[in-house]
Amino acid sequence: MTKPLIDPYLRPISYLRVSVTDRCDFRCVYCMSENMTFLPKKELLTLEELDRMCSAFVKLGVKKLRITGGEPLVRRDIMTFFRSMSRHLDSGDLKELTLTTNGSQLARFADDLYAAGVRRVNVSLDTLDEQKFADITRWGRLPQVLKGIDAAQNAGLRVKINAVALKGFNEDELFSMTEWCAARDIDLTWIEVMPMGDIGNEDRLGQYWSLKDVRAALAERYTVTDTPERSGGPARYVRLEETGQKIGFITPLSHNFCESCNRVRLTCTGELFMCLGQEDKADLRKPLREFPGDDRALENAIRAAIALKPKGHDFDYSRQRLDGQVSRHMSHTGG
Ligand code: GTP
Ligand code: 5AD
Ligand code: SF4
Repeated sequence: MTKPLIDPYLRPISYLRVSVTDRCDFRCVYCMSENMTFLPKKELLTLEELDRMCSAFVKLGVKKLRITGGEPLVRRDIMTFFRSMSRHLDSGDLKELTLTTNGSQLARFADDLYAAGVRRVNVSLDTLDEQKFADITRWGRLPQVLKGIDAAQNAGLRVKINAVALKGFNEDELFSMTEWCAARDIDLTWIEVMPMGDIGNEDRLGQYWSLKDVRAALAERYTVTDTPERSGGPARYVRLEETGQKIGFITPLSHNFCESCNRVRLTCTGELFMCLGQEDKADLRKPLREFPGDDRALENAIRAAIALKPKGHDFDYSRQRLDGQVSRHMSHTGG
């Protein structure tokens, strides 16, 4: 039997997030800088290499695979990769194959994703106002994303919306987004903004909207009840009695959840980041390429990397400073 992946803090690692490209067709202000330089294509792992890498993790006990980016659906031929990974669902080794997307390409790919065994998609959407959407994504078109969400639902995919909670930006949409999601049977999860990447003139501290305050604001209109439900990710959920809907909260700042961390992140160049909020990483591309027909060196490198997983992030705004900020952009590791 293969020994499971367990980190130094006795956390089993069963969730791999894989960024298949650093490119994106949007430039969300909290995620990328305006003039991002992207990696030359030759730096990227090929789809076959990504498959081999992910399959090694599945062999070592990973049960949930989330494909991210950049925007994963802008990577050429990405459906080949999804179709190929679905064999691990068929064998029962993998419990969930899913993705986090900006939704821009969903109308094109929703049916293919469903056919490849995907049953859930998380769509990043911070506002339902066309102008605000264009501003925060720097040029994205909201109707294209809404069409993608419709297509995903029509294809049978369960949709969850991820909204970064931003003071002065989407505070006024708390109830309208809640109602919009309730009417469409879409789950909604709010995320606290994290200090990542070169943030230029962005006022992260000023934008930070604690999800404790979001919950309190929801409680003014709805009966908010805690639920023990978990999806294997970091979100905690409440239910709104009046609408019956589930609302998620991802609270790296106001309520650290590192204690129950179960995940690591692979980049499109084969680096493994052990924590979203730390710089620790391991090069998995080298053992992958050095031994083309033999995964033993790769598996050893994965185990060695997990043995170095840090306890957690150091993000902390409490002293009115961006303590714990990491220099890489969120788009590098896919959130
Ligand atoms: P579910 O499977 O639906 O629970 O999704 P998930 O929350 O695991 O994945 P998703 O891509 O929807 O994550 C949403 C956001 O939560 C990410 O983009 C990050 O901003 C944040 N997030 C996810 N994982 C971590 C983590 O390990 N640490 C921290 N600090 N934030 C995380
Ligand atoms: N803080 C919190 N969430 C972020 N995301 C991107 N950058 C940040 C940040 N600085 C989220 C996006 C998307 C996911 C991929 O990462 O909104 O849901
Ligand atoms: Fe895990 Fe790091 Fe995220 Fe904490 S910040 S939950 S340790 S990845």
